[in-house]
Amino acid sequence: MQRIPASGTLRMFDIAAKLEAQGRKVYHFEVGQPDFPTPQNIVNAAIEALKQGFTRYVPARGIPPLLEAIADRYRKKGIEIDPATNVIVTPGAKMALFMGALAVIDIGDDVMMLSPSWPSYRVMIRNAGGSPIDVPTGPDFTLDEEVLKQSVTSDTRCIIINSPNNPSGGVLTKDDLKLIYDLACDYDFVIFSDEIYETLVYDGFKQTSMLEVDPEMERTLVINGFSKAYAMTGWRLGYAIGNEETVDNMVRIQQNTTSCATSFVQVAGVEALTGDQSSIERMRREYERRRNIMRNMFCSMDDVSCSTPKGAFYVFPDFSAYGMRSTELAEQILKDTGVVCTPGVVFGRDYDTHLRFTYAAATDVIEEGLAVLGDYLASFPRSKAGHAKRLPPTPAR
Ligand SMILES: Cc1ncc(COP(=O)(O)O)c(C=O)c1O
Repeated sequence: MQRIPASGTLRMFDIAAKLEAQGRKVYHFEVGQPDFPTPQNIVNAAIEALKQGFTRYVPARGIPPLLEAIADRYRKKGIEIDPATNVIVTPGAKMALFMGALAVIDIGDDVMMLSPSWPSYRVMIRNAGGSPIDVPTGPDFTLDEEVLKQSVTSDTRCIIINSPNNPSGGVLTKDDLKLIYDLACDYDFVIFSDEIYETLVYDGFKQTSMLEVDPEMERTLVINGFSKAYAMTGWRLGYAIGNEETVDNMVRIQQNTTSCATSFVQVAGVEALTGDQSSIERMRREYERRRNIMRNMFCSMDDVSCSTPKGAFYVFPDFSAYGMRSTELAEQILKDTGVVCTPGVVFGRDYDTHLRFTYAAATDVIEEGLAVLGDYLASFPRSKAGHAKRLPPTPAR
């Protein structure tokens, strides 16, 4: 347990909850979850399944219509998947990643994470006995080929990539994916590709699945789910796609842990994948609009450097000019303005001058909250400014 830190996001949430209890106005930009309701056709499918008594255990791998619907979705992208052997349905993408880590990572393995990266990867890797290795990205959170190559060790067993990325909004190109795949072949390691933000890409960018680069699933496990694309965070429904051996091992873990993803939720998942898809595009367009508002507001703030996220629903501006560590800065901003964000250090020690803000928040909250933040930063004690480069290195976590 000593190796599992408390969630940095939830810590901020807790401080904010105390302020709210004292009657303070708080602007929430810390927890990344869609603020849209789950589309009605999906809700109706679950209600109907419940009414029909679909409430028992189902196969650990997932119900066949959902496995088929998942395979079909990838077939439409030209990727052939056998629903009976290559897919497992899980209670959320998080559980798919957790079981994937247990199935693949052994004690003493090194696991690279393209960073900044979602903090749960680190915990899952350690839990499986591996050592997480941060592989920082380059300018604008693009892949840095040299840093990646230098991070491979004789113990490298796996790399975890996440595109579109939480927290940076960075998106890997097909050439990036090919480069990662070639390196994985040369040094014989596995690729976990977390594609949970797949549908949330902007500016006409096309997201590429790692399965398009490794269609035989020789060394790729793709993780995906319903939380972000269909606004279904609380339903807990995700899946993984990989080769028969890896998926079989994950099925055995699932049989002995959660047993299966919730039966009637899986029926709702079939409706999500096969029913009307217009809500996905509607939500995507709305996120893109909010991203533009948030990014423009950050760009107009003093001494804040903000690149344009290409996907997901976060911006990850750099506040190095303010000369404070991210946790200290995030807590001070929260206390003084009621604006809640997540300190960059939870996404990797190289990001201790960044803060993450989600734009999965209503437009008026974004506009008002960031206006308050902008005014505050304009009069932030300037004596501290410019000290960032002299901060001692952030201790390893
Ligand atoms: C990068 C990433 N992967 C996975 C998840 C978890 O998704 P799920 O709700 O399907 O467990 C999240 C949720 O925040 C995430 O940001």
